[in-house]
Amino acid sequence: MNRIKTLEEYNYQYQQSIESPETYWDNIAQNFTWKKKWDKTCSGDFHNLDIKWFEGGELNITDNCLDRHLENNANKTALIYEANGPGEETKTFTYQELHSEVCKFSNVLKSQGVKKGDRVCFYMGMVPQLLIGVLATARIGAIHSVVFGGFSAQALAGRIQDCNASILITNDGSLRGDKIIPLKEIADKAVENCPSIKNVLVHRRANNSINMNKDRDQWLTPLLEKASDQCESETMNSEDPLFILYTSGSTGSPKGQLHSTAGYMVYAQHTFQNVFQVEKEDIYWCTADIGWITGHTYITYAPLLSGSTTVMFEGVPTWPDAGRFWSIVEKLKITHLYTAPTAIRALEAFDLDYVNKHDLSSLKVLGSVGEPINEEAWNWYHKNIGKENCPIVDTWWQTETGGIMISPLAGITELKPCFATKPIPGILPVILDSDGNEILDDDAEGNLCIKHPWPGIARTIYGDNERYKQTYFTQFPGYYCTGDGAKRDSNRNYRITGRVDDLMNISGHRIGTAEVEDAINQHPNIIESAVVGYPHKIKGQGIYAYLICNTKYDDINKLTKEINEKVIESIGAIARPDKIQIVPGLPKTRSGKIMRRILRKVAAGDTSSLGDISTLLNPEIVQQLIEGKL
Ligand code: WT7
Repeated sequence: MNRIKTLEEYNYQYQQSIESPETYWDNIAQNFTWKKKWDKTCSGDFHNLDIKWFEGGELNITDNCLDRHLENNANKTALIYEANGPGEETKTFTYQELHSEVCKFSNVLKSQGVKKGDRVCFYMGMVPQLLIGVLATARIGAIHSVVFGGFSAQALAGRIQDCNASILITNDGSLRGDKIIPLKEIADKAVENCPSIKNVLVHRRANNSINMNKDRDQWLTPLLEKASDQCESETMNSEDPLFILYTSGSTGSPKGQLHSTAGYMVYAQHTFQNVFQVEKEDIYWCTADIGWITGHTYITYAPLLSGSTTVMFEGVPTWPDAGRFWSIVEKLKITHLYTAPTAIRALEAFDLDYVNKHDLSSLKVLGSVGEPINEEAWNWYHKNIGKENCPIVDTWWQTETGGIMISPLAGITELKPCFATKPIPGILPVILDSDGNEILDDDAEGNLCIKHPWPGIARTIYGDNERYKQTYFTQFPGYYCTGDGAKRDSNRNYRITGRVDDLMNISGHRIGTAEVEDAINQHPNIIESAVVGYPHKIKGQGIYAYLICNTKYDDINKLTKEINEKVIESIGAIARPDKIQIVPGLPKTRSGKIMRRILRKVAAGDTSSLGDISTLLNPEIVQQLIEGKL
């Protein structure tokens, strides 16, 4: 199905895709099941927005993920589920079985009054019912909003309120290594402040004790058992919303990225097949959580659209020991492993025996996603996991882009460590200088922007189109601004250098400095705070918080604990500061703006060249920051 197999084909298709994008995408979209073909391939642009793909088309994405495989591949394994405990049984679902489960879940949602266009919120661990529930939501034309199971009650409540979800599906608890996360208890707290939630469905997993509110809560399993395994898919227009996924912005509350049906579907599959080059018998495993975009596109939708076998893992890489990933690779004969640099670095820190006692010879392709992969981690992954036989696809993309944008195609593109290399066909990246001019030389460094719309781009921020325009299309009019910096080499390979805005990337998780500051500022003794990212050996970036206190703290540990509690309460443990420093003031410009550049340098311990500090209102503070550093 149009899969690129050689470098010549890549070059040819890339050229075609840029010269006549409509013809290019029109061709690719023919390979899907449509209830009605589209009239217009693409409309809108990055000046006027209102981007639409495959307008006039009618379809349901789940017909493409499930039904269309039933004729020839009903008994092929669609999903392999590896539970938290290594002793637990591996579960598998054929396409036929997954289809039945999705239909049952769809009927349960309908029985709870969920209708086309309603928002369905999931707050679950990595259990098959999450993937099934997401597909069931899409099947009946409702909109899923999955909230990562590591977020706090407040964060969950904010996301539910923003989209007015009418139903919440959760677990009693989720299992993560030797820990139980009490999801239902957290959800109960969240729902107290969410009047839109009329029903809560609870899937039993951890067997922890919970409260069931009899007017609102029901167990999921008995409902599923009673439901019919037949459910006609709802007819959706191409541009009908498929899901909302919240992601941090550099300011304000998390933004609900809204993805629409047909464009996302086409883009997800197109990128999956070309980047990973998965063959019929392959076993593909993406280690992400479905709570993030990687888990939406590359655990759930794209592999199933492609009729592949996708693996879902509930647990953590270091439990019961640091060999867990490698034991799963051996056990399931994984051919494609797609994970994050932070996981690679964490596992690299353990004895190589954990790797070497497992047979990893099934592996063919390795993937990396979420943050720049440093050379040391790349080499370790390549040598010790891939045995120098597996290409590494370093895939650059974002929640907003729906799918991979810049990446090698496995076995086709020449690799260069730390480089995401080449754009996917259909994607035209440009590098802009700070005045917004395209740098035309091959060798370039600057702001990474994208020139033409592609089918997978998020269409808006839910309920706030103005913010969508402002965030992505205002600084550099006519371009989609990624917020990332990039370098391009003389062979036109791209290397992503990191965010150019106030977003941090902590273990591949995107966290805004402002949201962490807002949480910290709720502490009664904090007058002001400023948070920056700093280089961290395992996490890629760690969180460094500068705090101005209104009282003297002799016991920094006590303050640290209290600050952590505030952050855990409003966001979740992933946003906990790694270091805090109490400071007498923050470096500010005359207009009162915090000069974060200096805070970043001090946090990184890189104070040899602080640049021009003459515009500071309080230049003396800089020395005090350096001296007070831990
Ligand atoms: C940001 C997007 C893409 C799914 C997971 C994260 C950074 C992502 C790479 C990569 C360098 C990367 C960027 C991007 N990023 N992949 N291969 N190399 N940086 O999605 O939470 O929306 O974060 O992650 O900074 O803008 P996200």
